[in-house]
Amino acid sequence: MSDLIRVLIVDDILETRDHLTKLLGFEKDVEVVGAAASGAEALEMAAKLLPDIVLMDINMPEMDGIAATELLMARVPTTSVVMMSVQGEADYLRRSMLAGAREFLVKPFSSDELTASIRQVYARERDKIGRMAALPVADSRANAAAREPGRVVAVFSPKGGVGRTTIAVNTAVAAASEPGAEVVLVDGSFQFGDVGVLLNLNPKNKSIADFVPELEAGGDPDSLDSFVITHSTGTKVLLAPPSPEMAELVTPAAIRRVLDVLRARCDLVVVDCAAAFSDSTLAVLDTADVILTVLTLEITSIKNMRLFLEVAEQLGYPQDKIELVLNRADSALGIRVADVEHSIGRKVDHTVVSDGRSVVYALNRGVPFFVSNREAQVSQDVLRLARALLGASEAAPAEARKPAPRKSLFAWR
Ligand SMILES: Nc1ncnc2c1ncn2[C@@H]1O[C@H](COP(=O)(O)OP(=O)(O)OP(=O)(O)O)[C@@H](O)[C@H]1O
Ligand SMILES: [Mg+2]
Repeated sequence: MSDLIRVLIVDDILETRDHLTKLLGFEKDVEVVGAAASGAEALEMAAKLLPDIVLMDINMPEMDGIAATELLMARVPTTSVVMMSVQGEADYLRRSMLAGAREFLVKPFSSDELTASIRQVYARERDKIGRMAALPVADSRANAAAREPGRVVAVFSPKGGVGRTTIAVNTAVAAASEPGAEVVLVDGSFQFGDVGVLLNLNPKNKSIADFVPELEAGGDPDSLDSFVITHSTGTKVLLAPPSPEMAELVTPAAIRRVLDVLRARCDLVVVDCAAAFSDSTLAVLDTADVILTVLTLEITSIKNMRLFLEVAEQLGYPQDKIELVLNRADSALGIRVADVEHSIGRKVDHTVVSDGRSVVYALNRGVPFFVSNREAQVSQDVLRLARALLGASEAAPAEARKPAPRKSLFAWR
């Protein structure tokens, strides 16, 4: 088999197809195996030719590039799609990624940009396949009974707006990008969940409020699969109820049960908690193996963190159950990390830099920044965090996962 990157071009305009064919003809490592004039033709040709890369135009009559990509991913999953679109169609980026595209080129692009994208997507895909082949990846369901229980990580902060949801979502997505990792993200902000927005998931999807009655009626834990959504990144998501009043259905006992079911099936269960100390948040914190506590370099955040650490002690949580994440760690306005550590009397375990551009760009498009800007420092920081959580989940002895004996849950109130 040759090492050439086999490319199929899909565009309804003949001149564009010819132009792209010519451009790629100059590249020694690329072979254009065909050119399709419509989505339907692309599906047919891809099934026969099995190209490595499909260069897909978005705007096409009848079946557009996004619909074609969705079908292509189902029928020819070995192919990677590089989407092409004209400027001013930012919303398409998000939809393309959800459909399964790997890269997005905005027209007009240079031949260097085109070939760099093709090579990068091809290299990443090969790398992924290589790593997957090296792993004894198993069918998660068949393995559910045999697998070691995963780790429940509660992303919490005693103060709102410090980046819990941002960190929970991107850490889960980063962890899910690791070979063989089964990761589920739970929106534990049961009244006002934001996870669905950050991932651009349809609020009409099923949520934890649908699963709880099923579980309580003695339903099969396997039915969980029909309430968990699989995001295009492979991350599983259990959404918060669609309206605040439905949050009442999600009782503390139900939360414990749901997390235990998830823990039995996944390597990592990341829960984005609400900032308030409600009974439901306490149920999450209690069940969690790790409380990833987020703070920023602000006096109020630091003060609340000190209070939380005191509360955690009263609750009987062992010290190593809590890991501190300093978010926007480089945005110091007069406060240094050492000052924070001194003030709260313990070390910061993880840091995530501030990157308003990547974070807000991603937020507004419903794409995690870990996907839209993977090279950015902020993405590297969450990847490091995700790997630490996954690595520890493999290394943690079963003993460490047992909940600590605790004092009365409400003793601190
Ligand atoms: N590392 C970062 N760099 C830049 N901006 C960030 C970073 N982390 C979070 N933000 C921004 O801070 C704001 C709050 O983030 P987020 O919604 O994740 O916080 P939260 O703690 O979940 O808030 P809430 O209490 O509303 O649930 C958002 O606008 C987000 O884009
Ligand atoms: Mg939030």
